[in-house]
Amino acid sequence: MRVAQLASEDDFDGWRTAARALAGARVPADQVVWQVGERAGDLFGDEAVPDAAAGAFSVPRPFVELAQSVVAHSDPERFALLYRMLLRLREQPGAMADRADPLLRRLEEMAKDVRRDMHKMRAFVRFREVETEDGPRFIAWFEPEHHIVRLNAGFFVRRFASMHWSILTPELSIHWDGATLTESPGATKADAPAGDPIEEVWRTYYGSIFNPARLKIGAMLKEMPRKYWKNMPETALVPQLIAGAQAREAKMIETARADVGGNSRVAWKALRDEAAACTRCHLYKCATQTVFGEGDVTARLMLVGEQPGDQEDLAGKPFVGPAGQVLDKALAQAGVDRATTYVTNAVKHFKFEQRGKRRIHSKPQGPEIDACRWWIDQERVLIRPPVTVALGATAARSLLGKVVTISGTRGRPLKLADGGECWVTIHPSYLLRLQDKAQAEDEFGRFVEDLQTANARVAALAA
Ligand code: URA
Repeated sequence: MRVAQLASEDDFDGWRTAARALAGARVPADQVVWQVGERAGDLFGDEAVPDAAAGAFSVPRPFVELAQSVVAHSDPERFALLYRMLLRLREQPGAMADRADPLLRRLEEMAKDVRRDMHKMRAFVRFREVETEDGPRFIAWFEPEHHIVRLNAGFFVRRFASMHWSILTPELSIHWDGATLTESPGATKADAPAGDPIEEVWRTYYGSIFNPARLKIGAMLKEMPRKYWKNMPETALVPQLIAGAQAREAKMIETARADVGGNSRVAWKALRDEAAACTRCHLYKCATQTVFGEGDVTARLMLVGEQPGDQEDLAGKPFVGPAGQVLDKALAQAGVDRATTYVTNAVKHFKFEQRGKRRIHSKPQGPEIDACRWWIDQERVLIRPPVTVALGATAARSLLGKVVTISGTRGRPLKLADGGECWVTIHPSYLLRLQDKAQAEDEFGRFVEDLQTANARVAALAA
């Protein structure tokens, strides 16, 4: 029996080094015991892990990414399961493509659990301000289900770079002083302070994004498990919000347009800043930045494209490149002032293939569109546009939640889950690809008509 000793519960580097060496020496999975922390004596009369990987071999990048997440899972079997998968990859390099394989599926489920827990931490950590000798410090208490604190630390550093903060958790606490991230042992809830004025900020934010028309208590509880409620100031508002939901809905519709500008702008900025650190899918790794939607947060017309292109990725703004110019021209001809609309994309990161110095657009796939739906849903909750134009099939898929064709959906209103109307049309870049001048002119004319129709619906619904 070999004992692989790991430094901590989330010791990915330790697992990788040991697993490489063991796999190189072809040690079978059932001959390895994975142990975290101090060595607990010679239970098995054990041999150590071999020092160097004799038969080094490479593994596909998706496996490394999967392993990085799975190592943070709380299942004690995780290191052994990953090692079994590694041995399999050694024999069958294409094994990551076998989606039906029970081991791979189990590992993928575990990675999903970890990502979900990371998201919950990002969404539900609430800081309380305390005065210290060094000035104000923001302290939060959180109880993750998995070993995600280190994995998530970078997010909080980026998001609250200029604050001094601490996040206390039962296993590990992390601290940021504006320059350095440090760790200390786990804490208890009693170590964290309760209640302070910063709660008002969260209350305002939550109150302004709460849309009673979308009240789904089951879904809300799923996203925001009761376990976290006690740490979150805005949950004090929830019973009140639910109780008054219908009355509030009517009032909101009546007054929202008038007073929403201030509050929604604050909430939109908070959302945009949160999206700037998005890692919900792998696209953030190669793109320059998140390209969030922009425009009038009280807009009645939302325009949704596919994903930022090369120029949008560099500028950080949607539709500013060649497709944006076609869109602007068509909007002008349709009599729509772009400044009164909200323009966004189904996918917020540029997906491309590098060919030499050029970055060639690559179409986002279902999982990327689904991962990014989180953001467009949040934008829609905030803006509540009565009319939305889906520019192309990717936008239509994101908004309608299913694959549709443009020819099968164009020219008629489609009801969205939030009650808004969706009008599907072509993507402006389609016009750029047309070689035949006469056809391009015809298609441009149809595009302008579609925008006119959508705009007329805005007026009709407001009447
Ligand atoms: N294409 C899109 O779909 N969106 C942009 O922002 C730019 C090009």
